Amino acid sequence: MCGIVGYIGSREAARICLEGLHRLEYRGYDSAGIAVVRDHALDVRKVVGKLLNMDASLAEKPLPGTLGIGHTRWATHGKPSVENSHPHVSMNGRIAVVHNGIIENYGELRERLRAEGYVFKSQTDTEVMAHLTQKYYEGDLRAAVIRAVKDLEGAFAFGVICADNPDVLVAVRRFSPLVVGLGEGENFIASDMGAIRKETDRVYVIDDDEVAYITREGVELTDLEGNRIEREVFVIPWPAEAAEKGGHKKFMHKEIHEQTDAMHNCLAGRLSAPDRPIQLDGLNMTAEEIRNLRKVVFTACGTAYHAGLVGRFLMEYLAKIPAECDLAAELRARNPVVLDNTLCVPISQSGETADTLVALRDMKEKGARCVSVLNVVDSSIARESDGVVYIQAGPEIGVASTKAYTLQVMTMTLMAIHFAEVRGTADPALLRELKAEMLKMPAYAAELLKREPQVLAVAERFYRLEDSLYLGRGVNLPSAMEGALKLKEISYIHAEGYSAGEMKHGPIALVDPELFTVAIAVHGDVYEKMIGNIQEIKARSGPVIGVADDGDEVIGRECDAMIWVPPVPEMLSPMTVAIPLQLLAYHMADLRGEDIDQPRNLAKTVTVE
Ligand code: G6P
Repeated sequence: MCGIVGYIGSREAARICLEGLHRLEYRGYDSAGIAVVRDHALDVRKVVGKLLNMDASLAEKPLPGTLGIGHTRWATHGKPSVENSHPHVSMNGRIAVVHNGIIENYGELRERLRAEGYVFKSQTDTEVMAHLTQKYYEGDLRAAVIRAVKDLEGAFAFGVICADNPDVLVAVRRFSPLVVGLGEGENFIASDMGAIRKETDRVYVIDDDEVAYITREGVELTDLEGNRIEREVFVIPWPAEAAEKGGHKKFMHKEIHEQTDAMHNCLAGRLSAPDRPIQLDGLNMTAEEIRNLRKVVFTACGTAYHAGLVGRFLMEYLAKIPAECDLAAELRARNPVVLDNTLCVPISQSGETADTLVALRDMKEKGARCVSVLNVVDSSIARESDGVVYIQAGPEIGVASTKAYTLQVMTMTLMAIHFAEVRGTADPALLRELKAEMLKMPAYAAELLKREPQVLAVAERFYRLEDSLYLGRGVNLPSAMEGALKLKEISYIHAEGYSAGEMKHGPIALVDPELFTVAIAVHGDVYEKMIGNIQEIKARSGPVIGVADDGDEVIGRECDAMIWVPPVPEMLSPMTVAIPLQLLAYHMADLRGEDIDQPRNLAKTVTVE
């Protein structure tokens, strides 16, 4: 997904933009560009491919200037090329624009501008903004930008500079993320806080249809009518090093290893002892409102959807509330029935995923109360929700979501236990046991991480195969789906996550010695059935990697290789199972030499529908 960075100050803008762009690499991109103002002219540099090409280009020929904007592009309109990469420049060569989002009416605007004599050099939607700003420019860049965005439909975060205004950087947003970083004698813009965290911990989070007028000395926020907006400074609560790899080979590896601490953070202030009730402040719901709930609809994309499936299971099992879980991109099409007292729970690491945001808006319109489960504070979804429960995972940079998934599942579990407590729908002894085990979860995570060499050994045996099946049942069906997603997205090994019971209705046809199966068979309601499924695969000469509780000799005898996990109540096992499956995917991808943190065709945050 596109990333934008901008700088105004006394240092070399291109260097600072480039550093920021490197921190946005996790969003996924295919080309990049930087524009600076120098000697009342624009200087633009663009490269296709990785930012290393920009590093080399600037090392060979620097781009001096103390006002600049930078961009990493993830193609949506027009293929990755120098012409299509940003910044886009107005026809008169005076105004440069970087953009994240999609201008939906760009076709119509393009025709109109063409008729007025504007010549387009790219196939992008963004170029219309450069020309429109020129069209409306009468010496005041902010006024021109405001006038131009009033013509636009769709989503955008823009950074705009003009050769005739060397002391001004203008930024504006609608639907795409944007922050302004505050420095001393210098200021910044970026798509997210991590991009500029090294430079400052003080930011303004910009809202829809807000404009930032940024000089070296200060920042003025207005709405599109020019009315001043007062905004509290947000102090970024995590240290700069949190966005770095911290000694790990890959962000994904670092983030898998952060799960012990992250679980502590997630539980902090919410669960202190087995006999104390759970506190979920951000929920923003009274006990009566929880008791009156008639339906819960979870909705999310990708990994977060799998966490939602766990949520659905636990919500019905423990809190006895009818629950559904929909892919956010499908929710509107299904047109779900919203009863009185329906709760919608959008789940998102970034809080910016467009499909999830649209699903939230739809459910709100239908009258559902929306309480989101998010990681990024003050994100777009957070701002539109009736309540937010943060998973408190810290920044997640690796495109493949790991710690965010485990913490989303942990948060779902806290929510389901809490609802069950308030509604009195589960045996108090069971809830006490679950809470006691939840408190041990960080210790289980630490133990599982210590066992990484065992998982690596399994990866070494199977990483050359091209096909795999992940099987689970009940609360661990989502674990199988998530394990398969993790493997396919970073190693490109074909992986299917399936209900073990459904296997005999199709996937079993694929089983042969060249396809490995990962079978999740921890103790619980579905254990015996899982053994049967493993035997069905063995009878067809398929190699099986078992995921089972420590000391389970039965499974140990059936399987070709084992991943052992500490035994926990079945309802909590999605958290313990997730960690070795993340490590398995990581090591298989690493052994295959893949670009783990930036897998092909994927973006960390997908801000288009
Ligand atoms: C993208 C990412 C996935 C992520 C999904 C939802 O597809 O590559 O890792 O699970 O978006 O993202 P969200 O930020 O809403 O959790």
